[in-house]
Formats: sequence, C-alpha cells, structure tokens
Amino acid sequence: MATIGKNIHHAVQVLSEGQVIGMPTETVYGLAGNALNEEAIVRIFEVKNRPRFDPLIAHIGHRDQLTDLAKDIPSQAVQLIDAFWPGPLTLLLEKTTVVPHLLTSGSSRVAIRLPAHEVARALLSKVHFPLAAPSANPFGYVSPTTARHVHDQLGDRIPYILDGGPSAIGLESTIVGFEMGRPVVYRLGGLTLEAIEDVIGEVTLQRNKSSNPAAPGMLKSHYSPGKPVIIGDVPELLEQYDAQKTGVISLSEQYDVLEMQALSPSGSVTEAAQHLFRVLRLLDDSDVEVILAERFPDEGLGRAINDRLERAGAR
Ligand code: TXA
Ligand code: MG
Repeated sequence: MATIGKNIHHAVQVLSEGQVIGMPTETVYGLAGNALNEEAIVRIFEVKNRPRFDPLIAHIGHRDQLTDLAKDIPSQAVQLIDAFWPGPLTLLLEKTTVVPHLLTSGSSRVAIRLPAHEVARALLSKVHFPLAAPSANPFGYVSPTTARHVHDQLGDRIPYILDGGPSAIGLESTIVGFEMGRPVVYRLGGLTLEAIEDVIGEVTLQRNKSSNPAAPGMLKSHYSPGKPVIIGDVPELLEQYDAQKTGVISLSEQYDVLEMQALSPSGSVTEAAQHLFRVLRLLDDSDVEVILAERFPDEGLGRAINDRLERAGAR
C-alpha cells in the first residue's frame, strides 16, 4: 500500500528509480513518472489502466526546459506562456527527438505544462527529468483532488503519494494547441477561454464530443462516476426522480433530497470548481441512485464545470 507523506527527497528517490508516485498539482493530482524513461511511462499506463493511444502530459519545473522537449514554438504560445505559466495551461507543441513516442502515443506533438503548486515545483526542481503525469485516477474516472483520493483508487499499485493538500483549482488544465498556425482549445479547464482570448484574441474551441480516441483531448464519456449524472434544471428534474433516492449538485441552492451538495454557499464558481470532483466522489459512494446537477452559467469556469458534468453523465 502506498504511503502518503510530505517527503520530497523520498519522492525524488523513488522517481529516480523509475517508479511512479502520486503528485499534487494545483489542478488535480497526477500520477508521475520520469517522462524520458520508457519503463516509467509504461508503468503509468498500467497503473491507470489507460490505453496506450491516450498520450501523457510532460510537466517541467522551469521554462528553460521547454526547448529540450518542444520546437517551432508559435509566438502565440510564447504569449500564453508569459501570461499563464506557471499555472493551469497545457500547450501542445511539436516535439523534439528527446521525447519518447510512447509519451505522445506516436504523435509529433507533445503536451507540456509548468504547474504552479509549490510542492510540485519543489519536486520538479530536484529531479533531473520532466515528469509525465496524467490525472491519478483509473482511466475514465473522476480526477483526484486530494492525496486520499489517489490512495483510495491507486494506493495498492504505487509506493508513494506526495501530499500537497487539496488542489486549489480542482479542474484539470486547459489544453491549447495550434493548427495551421491558429490556436485551438482542446480541453477547457482551470484556465478560462476568456482569459486566453484576452491575451491572444479569438480561439477555436474544439471539444471532442465523439468517442474518437485519435482526437486529442478527451473521450466523450470521461470523468465518470459509476452512478448516472443528469445535468439540467433541477426543480424540473426533481418532478421525474424520487427525491429520497437522489443526490443534487448545485452552486448554492438547497433542495430537499437524500444528499444535497451546494458547491459554494456564497455562489463563487471558483469555489464550486474546487469542490466538484470531491462531491462527485462523495455522491458516488453514497446511497443515492441518481445524481442531478444544475447547469452552470456558460462563462468562465462555469463552462469547464458544465463540460465535466456532461462527460460525467455520458454513457
Ligand atoms: O491538470 C492536468 O492537466 C492534470 C495534472 C496532473 O497536470 N493532468 C491531466 O492529464 O489531466 P490527463 O492525462 O488526465 O489528461 C491530459 C489530456 C489527455 O486527454 C490526453 O489525451 C491529452 O491531454 N494529451 C496529452 N498529450 C497529448 C498529445 N501529444 N496530443 C494530444 N492530446 C494530448
Ligand atoms: Mg485524466
């Protein structure tokens, strides 16, 4: 069973042996291993039970490492880096030959992120390689936002989980790439579309709604708890479902149901994002038979929250 701890030196040692560990970031917890070591990469795919066609993000601790891994970097990518690194932004860039094909699932592009979490940065500054880290959940399940979440699901498959407290953002990073020189957002996350457009102007949103695994980003049914999740107008939905078998996720409204989870009593979407995945886990583990979720306003982080709720509900 994995030990949960705060020992960065131990984490460095375990990673240097080619093993994989749980790592905190400000978005969600990652399952980290040496991104340049094929055995470590294979181990990550195995632990997550993730298909090899779904590539991994390389995390770096310093901007200088970028050009080791990526080339032909568009000027708009540099603008985004200047504005949002360290932070919840992942860039898809042309890879250099240093990056193993296994990491990118054969793609010529590599996903790179410079996380802001202090513990992640301390760890990255001490290892001498980038860290491959998908979210530390079994493939297809909700991402973890605490060390305990990682332990609950992957604790029997990894030696160590570095504890950095609850993830401050609570949603995965936003993924941006370039097609024919134009910026494309493949996954909405902790960095909003509005913030990106303020810096580089209009971007195309290309969320993968199909289940085409070759497309970057994500599969349609992802972030899924085991129970059905239905997103919409809660009072209307409650006319169709038995309140005593129902869990409800709202921003701040209260309803008389078996499990009521208002994500932010003060109505803060930022706070709602922090709690979303924890609450999905909690309701999944509760006695409710169905989870009803309020649709958030389609702006700012609300867009990413709606995206995750829709994917949680997709079958
Ligand atoms: O916030 C995050 O991004 C977290 C933390 C741990 O950094 N990581 C994360 O990783 O969410 P993961 O693997 O769960 O999601 C990364 C997504 C995947 O859907 C994958 O398909 C896409 O990024 N991706 C990674 N590399 C790619 C590549 N070379 N081309 C296209 N898509 C890529
Ligand atoms: Mg994931």
